[in-house]
Amino acid sequence: MKLFRPNVYAVGAIDWDRRLFDELIPLPDGTSYNAYLVKGSEKTALLDTVDPTKTDVLIGNLVSLGIDRIDYIVAHHAEQDHSGAIPDVLMLYPDAKVVTNSKCKAMLIDLLSIGEDKFITVDDGQTFSLGDKTLQFIYIPWVHWPETLGTYLQADRIFFPCDFFGSHLATSSLFVDDEPVVYEAAKRYYAEIMMPFRTHIRKNLEKIKALQIDMIAPSHGPVYDKPSFIIDAYEDWISDKVKNEVVLPYVSMHHSTKKMVDYFVDALIERGITVRQFNLTVTDIGRLAISLVDAATIVLGSPTVLTGAHPKIAYAAILANALRPKTKFASIIGSYGWGGKMIEQITGLISNLKIEILEPVVAKGYPKDDDFAALDKLADGILAKHKELKIVS
Ligand code: FEO
Repeated sequence: MKLFRPNVYAVGAIDWDRRLFDELIPLPDGTSYNAYLVKGSEKTALLDTVDPTKTDVLIGNLVSLGIDRIDYIVAHHAEQDHSGAIPDVLMLYPDAKVVTNSKCKAMLIDLLSIGEDKFITVDDGQTFSLGDKTLQFIYIPWVHWPETLGTYLQADRIFFPCDFFGSHLATSSLFVDDEPVVYEAAKRYYAEIMMPFRTHIRKNLEKIKALQIDMIAPSHGPVYDKPSFIIDAYEDWISDKVKNEVVLPYVSMHHSTKKMVDYFVDALIERGITVRQFNLTVTDIGRLAISLVDAATIVLGSPTVLTGAHPKIAYAAILANALRPKTKFASIIGSYGWGGKMIEQITGLISNLKIEILEPVVAKGYPKDDDFAALDKLADGILAKHKELKIVS
C-alpha cells in the first residue's frame, strides 16, 4: 500500500501472475486491481475494491493502515475485478455504505447479492463531503459497461475513472515510470476493452476535460501523474484518423495461402504500405487487437476448411467485428481445393464494420501467375484507397 497524496492511499493488489482476463484476453504483463482510500477529517471512503482472489491483500492493507472505520465504499463499476471484495469489506466494516449510481446498484444486487439497505445512490455531478476533502461523482457510461462512474477528488485534483484509461500491467511503480511500456499496455487495454465504445469515450473525454486534473488514478495499471500523456493517446485512438497500414491475420495449412501472403506482403511493402502480419496459429490475439486501433485496412488470409474459413480466421473475424475498429477497407485472400463459401462466410462475420470490401483473391490450389497478378491488383487497389484518404505520404 502506498501514500500518494496527503491521506490518499493506494490499497489495491498487484496480480503479477494472471495471464488471462475474462478467459479471453491475454495478460502478458499481469495486471493490478487498484483500490484507493481517502481519509477526510470526518469520513473515510474506499474507492473500489479488488478481484475476489486478492481480497486478503486489500484487507491486509486496510488493517495495516489501522483503518477501524470506513464510511463509504464507492463502487465505480459492478464488474467483479473491482466489486468482488465488497461483501468481505462490508463484513469487516458493517456500518459502511456502498455509494454508487442506481444502475450500478442494481447490478451489484444481481451479481453479489448485496442488500438494498447497504446503498446510497448518487447523481451525476453530486458531491459528498468527507470533511476536509470532497468527492464529486462523474457519470462516465460505457467505459466499458453502461453503469460506470468516476470520482473527482476536488482539492487534490485526482480523477479516479475506474477502467477508463487503465492498463493491464503489473508493476511495483505507483506512477508511470516507463512511458513506452505503459503506452503499449494502455493501447492494448483500449483495443481489447474500450475500442467498441469510441463514440461514448469521445463524449466522456469532453466531459472530464472540464475538470482540473493533476492525476488520473485508474483501476488497473499505474497512476498517471501527467494526465496529458494518456488523454492525448486516447484522443488519437478514438479519432477517425487511420494509418497507411494493412493488418494481415492468416492461417495456412499446406503453404498455398502462405505463398500468397508472402507475395502480397512484399507487394504492399513495395507500394510503401506498412504491414502487420499475424500467423494466427502462434499470435497473441492482443497484438492483433492493438494493430486494429490504427490500420486503414484488414486483409484476412485463409485456406478453405470444410467449405468455410479456417476456424482461427473465423475467430479473428468475429473478434474484429466485436471490437469495431475504425478500419475503412477489408479483403480476403486464400485458397481452396474444390469449392466452399469462405468469402461469403467471412464477409458475413464482419458485418458490423463500416468498411468497403475490396475484391478478394482466392486461388484454386497452389497460387499461379493469374493469382499473383490479382494480388498485385489488390495491392494497387489498397494503395489507391489509402491515397484517397490522404494517408500516404
Ligand atoms: Fe476492470 Fe470492467 O473491469
